[in-house]
Amino acid sequence: MNYKDLIDRIEAGYEPDAQEIESLIQLDRPEAEYLFNAANRTTQKYCGNKVHIRGIIEFSNYCRCRCLYCGINCDNNDVKRYRMEPDEIIENAALAYKAGYRTVVLQSGEDLWYTRDKISYIVKSIKSAGDMAITLSVGERNHEDYLQWFRDGADRFLIKHETADEKLYNMLHPHSNFNNRLKCLRDLKKIGYQLGSGFMVGLPGQTAETIAKDILLLKELDVDMAGIGPFIPHPKTGLKEKAQGSTFLTLKAVAVSRLLIKKVHLPATTALGVLNSDDKENAFSSGANVIMIKVQDHKYRKLYEIYPKGEGQIESIEAERRKLENFIMGLGREVSDDRGDSLKLKEDNYE
Ligand code: 5AD
Repeated sequence: MNYKDLIDRIEAGYEPDAQEIESLIQLDRPEAEYLFNAANRTTQKYCGNKVHIRGIIEFSNYCRCRCLYCGINCDNNDVKRYRMEPDEIIENAALAYKAGYRTVVLQSGEDLWYTRDKISYIVKSIKSAGDMAITLSVGERNHEDYLQWFRDGADRFLIKHETADEKLYNMLHPHSNFNNRLKCLRDLKKIGYQLGSGFMVGLPGQTAETIAKDILLLKELDVDMAGIGPFIPHPKTGLKEKAQGSTFLTLKAVAVSRLLIKKVHLPATTALGVLNSDDKENAFSSGANVIMIKVQDHKYRKLYEIYPKGEGQIESIEAERRKLENFIMGLGREVSDDRGDSLKLKEDNYE
């Protein structure tokens, strides 16, 4: 089948196999334009024209893990570590609410200082202060923890599968393993969370075949959201010499995911750097409908460096949101003022 027919058919509901997905991932320019346009139409049809803005509070950079790619892994002694107190996190979420955020993502390294009860307290306090969705992103914990936080009112959980290649996964995560990650993802879905996974593009040793498997895994996990971003080498990690993942390849992975899964929230990931680039060809024209920005105090931001990135100007939480809103509107998109819950909870589409 030629690539245009394949794209048309997937847009209409055909479920491609791994090889067909791989062939789309390998499209060159200008053929990829056809893919991006189809992804864009699919976004408009299933998500509408609105972009959801999520506020993220990176509340601790302590981590027990040894992820080879990550700048805050526990072997990096050059990082100054910080933890926000529970009440500080709650106050921060209240500020975000006031600035217009209706989703707050609470993310940290895997830091067991935050016990089940501490996180329960944080979740319950934030939920009692207003109608704001909470996404937890605190890594692998036991089933009882996940269940308790869901009962406390946490709405969503974000824990990426990172790569669907089991051998590569286990090499990159010497402290854990692929099966445990899958178990966490499945448990979370079963408990009832709106589930977020995702993966990195351009990891050393990754092939187009792996990316096809990554996308099929998103489908199998029945995710509600998926963050797909390029791998960026961090100078203080074992992968510092490796090449950065390609933006073009990442955009194709986002586009194929949109085309295949349809009712899924796809962020323009921070690693793609859309805000700092003039590139008109960005994730918002190839399937993305969500963006996350940091809302914690500036003194913590540069310490949460999972991969190198530029430092923004220091502005208020309101000014930063306005700037982002203007950016989104400049792309011809609107800004959502609701929580942006899972599209799978909605019956209809935007046609
Ligand atoms: N490059 C790109 N993405 C990274 N992440 C972590 N380290 C890197 C890196 N070096 C991503 C992972 C993780 C998320 C918090 O950030 O996908 O899940």
